[in-house]
Amino acid sequence: MKEIQICIGSACHVKGSYDVVSCFKKLVEEQGLEDEVHLQGAFCMNACGDGVAVKYNDQIVTVKPEGVPALFEKIMEAE
Ligand code: FES
Repeated sequence: MKEIQICIGSACHVKGSYDVVSCFKKLVEEQGLEDEVHLQGAFCMNACGDGVAVKYNDQIVTVKPEGVPALFEKIMEAE
C-alpha cells in the first residue's frame, strides 16, 4: 500500500490543496488503484513553498495541481 499525504495546511490550501487532492483521487479511481494507494490529508509539513506539499516514501515534494499526473506516475513507479 502506498501512502500519499497531501498537505492541507493554510499555505498549501491557498496554493491549491483541494485541486491536488481531487486530481490524485481522480487518478486513483481512473486506474482502479483504490486498494493500492491511500490518500491522506496532513497538516503543515514545514515545506510551504512553490506548491502543495506532498509526502510519500518519507520524502516531501511540492506540486501544483497541473503537476499531479507526472508526480503520481513517479510515485507509482517508485519502490
Ligand atoms: S502549509 Fe503545507 S507545508 Fe506548510
